[in-house]
Amino acid sequence: MQLTYYGHACFAVDIDGARLLFDPFISPNPLAAGIDVEAIAADYVLVSHGHGDHVADVAAITKRTGATLLSNYEIVQWFAGQGVTKGHGMNFGGSVRLPFGRVKFVTAVHSSTLPDGTPGGNPGGFVVTGGGKTFYYAGDTALTYDMKLIAEACAVDVAVLPIGDTFTMDAADAARAAEFVGTKTVVGVHYDTFPPIAIDHDAARAAFAARGITLLLPAIGETVAL
Ligand code: NI
Ligand code: MN
Repeated sequence: MQLTYYGHACFAVDIDGARLLFDPFISPNPLAAGIDVEAIAADYVLVSHGHGDHVADVAAITKRTGATLLSNYEIVQWFAGQGVTKGHGMNFGGSVRLPFGRVKFVTAVHSSTLPDGTPGGNPGGFVVTGGGKTFYYAGDTALTYDMKLIAEACAVDVAVLPIGDTFTMDAADAARAAEFVGTKTVVGVHYDTFPPIAIDHDAARAAFAARGITLLLPAIGETVAL
């Protein structure tokens, strides 16, 4: 399993030849100006919730690549209205089995209005199992005891967690979230993109290190093996 970071909360995970792209927000992000959005491959596009900083490039990428959209039912329906024809609409607690493994849609504590004001259902996260590993992407969320349910059900190898504060958990709460889900490795996302979510990287790493957890902060465009 390897992860490539594209800035903000957008990243791709490669599992046994399948490429999963999460929350594409690249073309509006000045920090990701070095990424060629037209060159990003995807077999599946997974969207945690309807906010613009998670869906900006969904329609263009799914149409160009033919990728299947995985999100809550309301968001999949909204994109169907824009010509995104391949989608699995999900809801909390449900999973889909795919050739590379299994994707489960789990709770997040946040909001989910789509860019045109359409209600975007409930915000969520994903637990993905494939290639002998399990990872958890929390989406935008507060710390919540629901995360403990994930650890009760399976061993989480890696968690991708928001750490930018203001709209989501800060690093201290995200470190507690990592303990809740039982992982020792976290990739931090949803920080530095806008002034309200600018963070001190060393302080963030220290918040995790205090709990014996490694925080990875890949550079935009960097790929890390997990
Ligand atoms: Ni959001
Ligand atoms: Mn967001």
